[in-house]
Amino acid sequence: MTDRYCVFGHPVGHSKSPAIHAAFAAQTGDNIEYTAIEAPLDDFAGAWRRFVAEGGRGANVTVPFKEAAFELCDTLSERARRAGAVNTLILGGNALTYGDTTDGVGLVRDLKRHGVELTGARILVLGAGGAVRGVLEPLLSEEPVSLFVANRTAAKAEALAADFCELGTIAGGGFEAVEGPYELIINGTSASLAGDLPPLPEALFNDGGIAYDMMYASEPTLFLRWAAERGAATIDGLGMLVEQAAESFFQWRGRRPDTGPVREALRRTL
Ligand code: ATR
Repeated sequence: MTDRYCVFGHPVGHSKSPAIHAAFAAQTGDNIEYTAIEAPLDDFAGAWRRFVAEGGRGANVTVPFKEAAFELCDTLSERARRAGAVNTLILGGNALTYGDTTDGVGLVRDLKRHGVELTGARILVLGAGGAVRGVLEPLLSEEPVSLFVANRTAAKAEALAADFCELGTIAGGGFEAVEGPYELIINGTSASLAGDLPPLPEALFNDGGIAYDMMYASEPTLFLRWAAERGAATIDGLGMLVEQAAESFFQWRGRRPDTGPVREALRRTL
């Protein structure tokens, strides 16, 4: 029998998740169907219940439902509880819903795949919204020497850092409080969507410094272009997308797909 999965979003037509999971399933031989479902903005829980009633076994959750998904779960992974958001729903025994978030582990795996050394690194994270909250726990578990969260609204970065301070050396503030140099700068703001760049001082990167943008596009983002002009090596978020999907697939199916060929195929479609 075919097991059903989906990605919920609104809008969701642009989602690459159906293609990614179809490629994973072709690799592993898993017999699954994976579709994109546009859930109503005011009733995410209802959309999940209907999907389960129709045989759904699990789902990915994207904007704007990650917090609503968090709310409906019967049990949560530790990393989802800290993130306050869920991107992976799993139907468990007794029709209970288990929630996990795989975004952070996806980011860390992609960084490691690129040979980025996180342990002992000085890391700057730009942004303090849901995307950043979702990746702090896995980043801190790699034991960087320091992690600074900088945000346009400084109070949000300070509050976020306070929420995670028991997990490592983390602080938060406004962009004016940024003091380099850093081995790694991760952009988790949506500034580039508005054609903006966070106002950052010059000379922020160490020799061999790396810039990572959680976003991706067919062309390098504004942030990555800014970083390249200052001598940093640059990485976009396409690999993170594929790695978080692979972790969701593993949670559902117990098998780890080979992400390399899927990432390369996806890159060619951008
Ligand atoms: P997401 O789920 O993508 O994190 P979000 O929670 O709305 O979305 O957060 C967006 C982040 O991008 C925030 O850190 C936001 O800064 P503020 O908290 O000050 O709003 C940041 N951001 C959005 N547009 C920006 C811009 N033009 N310049 C700098 N930061 C921006």
